[in-house]
Order: sequence, then C-alpha cells, then structure tokens
Amino acid sequence: MNPILRIAPSILSADFARLGEEVRAIEAAGADLVHFDVMDNHYVPNLTIGPLVCEAIRPHVKIAIDVHLMVEPVDALIPLFAKAGANLITFHPEASRHVDRTLQLIRDHGCKAGLALNPATPLSWMDHVMDRLDIVLLMSVNPGFGGQKFIPATLAKLREARRRIDAHTAAGGQPIWLEVDGGVKTDNIGEIVAAGADTCVAGSAVFGAPDAGGGYRDVMAELRRAARAA
Ligand code: DX5
Ligand code: ZN
Repeated sequence: MNPILRIAPSILSADFARLGEEVRAIEAAGADLVHFDVMDNHYVPNLTIGPLVCEAIRPHVKIAIDVHLMVEPVDALIPLFAKAGANLITFHPEASRHVDRTLQLIRDHGCKAGLALNPATPLSWMDHVMDRLDIVLLMSVNPGFGGQKFIPATLAKLREARRRIDAHTAAGGQPIWLEVDGGVKTDNIGEIVAAGADTCVAGSAVFGAPDAGGGYRDVMAELRRAARAA
C-alpha cells in the first residue's frame, strides 16, 4: 500500500446550515483536506457553492481546501477561488477550451493544479501536460451528486494512472497526487488504495456519521484502518 493516505471529506454531504462548525469538526477529526464541490447546473445537473462560501469557511480551518470545479467554462472562476483561499483546484478538461492554459492559470494564482477525469474520460488527457499537474482526480461516480455507488472499472484506471505517475516521477518529474472521488467507503477503500490512490474523497461516508460522540473521527480512523489492512 502507498504509505501516504490523505482523506478529503466532501462538504457536499455536510449540513450547509452549519458549515463553519462542520469543517472545524472534520479538521479536529483528522481530515487532511476539505473537498469543496462546485457545480454549475450546466456542466453537471446540480448547483452548489461558489467562491463566497469558500471565503466564508477559510478562516475556520488550517487544512487545505481542495476545490473540485464541475463547471463550464472554467477559467473565470480560478482567480476568484484563489482569492477566496483555495489551495488546490481541479477541473474537468472537457470543460476547458485550453487545458494547458487553465493548468498554468491555476499555478500562476498560487494553487496546486489538477485534472478531474470522469469515468469515461481517458487518461490520455494527462499525456502532454504531465509537468503541469500536481494532482489527478479520477471520478469513481458520474459527477453531480453525493452518495452514489463506486464504479468498479475505476480500479483498473487507478492502476494505470499510478503507473504513469510513477514513471513520470522516476524520470525526475514532480510528484503528482492521485485522488479518487465518489463512493469511497470503509468496505472498498482497501482495494482503492491498493490500486494506487493516495488521496480519497469521502462525502457521505464521513458526513453520514453523526459527529456527536466523535462519529467523524471514528469513520476516518476506520477508513485509515481499512486502507492499511489491504
Ligand atoms: C460528486 C462529487 C463528490 C461527492 C462524493 O460529483 O464530486 O465529491 O461529494 O460523495 P460520496 O463520497 O458520497 O460519493
Ligand atoms: Zn468532488
């Protein structure tokens, strides 16, 4: 197993009426990142949160905010999210006219940059931009909603993405995180991490547990235990 495992609870499944409290609770419970899902009712059939909400939660936590843009077009939102305190920004390459330029734009604004690839989107989008990537996010559900079922074909795709990333770093390239997003639970995180993921988004798995009595901490500990056991 990969020795590094970052857990990124997706606030899509949090209580939006108490968001400040919710992000403080996941940080206290051991989360590595806050996963922040941005949906525009255009690229995906749902509508969520934008830079104002990012700015509002920023002072509540020290951990990095991992902004996942499910929007089209992409570029105009990047400076806004960087200003709102985002640390990582991923976007779907089909939603940008100029993928290389968008990746550069994210880094120029001081954030880590990455591609988010849908279940049917090929890894070949990585081919000519490896040097510009800090992160690759593989969707293991179709984007738009929390609480969906993990698509098993993602495991083979993770193995292939891991192979490409390792070849890149072995040849002297920068490190690239491999994040998986959708349907990650205690009963499948073992095989997901064994397939090469080092960063796991977990929305309903974490926020589905009541935090009262340490529920978030327990789920995250359980996810780490299950990952180590694989
Ligand atoms: C789906 C989002 C995910 C989602 C994951 O479009 O990108 O981040 O919140 O939720 P779970 O873990 O419940 O599948
Ligand atoms: Zn996401």
